[in-house]
Amino acid sequence: MRRPAAFLNLIFSRRSIRRFRPGKIDAEVLKIILEAAQSAPYYYQAFCFILLEKPEIKREINESCGGDFIEKAGASIVVCLDLNRISGLLDRLGIVHVLKADTYPVESVLGVFESGLAVMNLIMAAEVMGYGTLILDCALYECERISEILKLPHGVIPLVIVCIGEKDENPPPRPRWPLESLFHVDGYRMLSDEESERFLENMDKAYSVEGYLKKYAGWAGSYREYLANRALLTREVRRAYESISAFLRRSGFRP
Ligand SMILES: Cc1cc2nc3c(=O)[nH]c(=O)nc-3n(C[C@H](O)[C@H](O)[C@H](O)COP(=O)(O)O)c2cc1C
Repeated sequence: MRRPAAFLNLIFSRRSIRRFRPGKIDAEVLKIILEAAQSAPYYYQAFCFILLEKPEIKREINESCGGDFIEKAGASIVVCLDLNRISGLLDRLGIVHVLKADTYPVESVLGVFESGLAVMNLIMAAEVMGYGTLILDCALYECERISEILKLPHGVIPLVIVCIGEKDENPPPRPRWPLESLFHVDGYRMLSDEESERFLENMDKAYSVEGYLKKYAGWAGSYREYLANRALLTREVRRAYESISAFLRRSGFRP
C-alpha cells in the first residue's frame, strides 16, 4: 500500500523538544497554529488557550513548573478545560442544563478529551511550520497556583502548558509499548507478565541510548526504578493529590 509519506513522516519524526533557540513566535504563525488547534473535532469546544506574554507572569508560572521551558520558548500557551464559557452559554437557554448538576462527569471527561485533540492539532501545525513543541503537565499539578496567577474564573481549569519554539536539538525516537500490547480485536487481551517485563527492559534500553532519564529527570538508575519512584504513593503525594482533587471539584470539574 502506498503511504501518504509527507504527513506520516511528520507524525513519526515529531519529538518533544526541550531546548529552544531564542526568539518569539511570530503573531501570524501563532494565529495559524491556534486556528489549526480549533479545527480539531469537537464536542462542546470546552477549552481555551491562554498565551503567556508578560515576563513576570511567565516567571511566576516557570517558578511553579520548574525548569526554564516557559521563559525560553518562543510562545507558551496554557490549555484549559473551559466549562465557564459553556455553562454561561447554556444558562442563556433558560434550561436546567447538565453543567448545573454537580455529580455527572460526562462533560468534564469529554472536555478533557477534546482539549487533547486540539492540542495535538496545535502540535502538528507547529511541526509542519518548522517549530518544536513540549507539553508540560505542571498546569494540572499546579492548577491552584496557576489559576491564582492568571486569575481564572470558576470552571476554567488548567490542563497542560504547550511550549512552542525553534528546535535547538534533534532527539531520537522515544520508546513506546509494542502495538500488540495496546491493540485488541473484538475484546480485550490481558497483558502477560513476560510482556510487562519485556516492556520495562525495552524502555530501559531505549532510554539509556539517549541518556534520557539522566538528561531530563536527573535519574541515574534504571527505568524500572525511575517508574517505581515516580508512581510511588507517598504521604506527600497523597496530600498533594487530595489538594488538587479538592481544587478541581471546587472549580466545577466532575471526576
Ligand atoms: C499529558 C502530557 C504531559 C507531559 N508533561 C511533560 C512534562 O511536564 N515535562 C516534560 O518534559 N515532558 C512532558 N510530556 C512529554 C512526554 O514526556 C513525551 O511526550 C514522551 O516522553 C514521549 O516523547 P516524544 O514526545 O518525544 O515522542 C508530557 C506529555 C503528555 C502527553
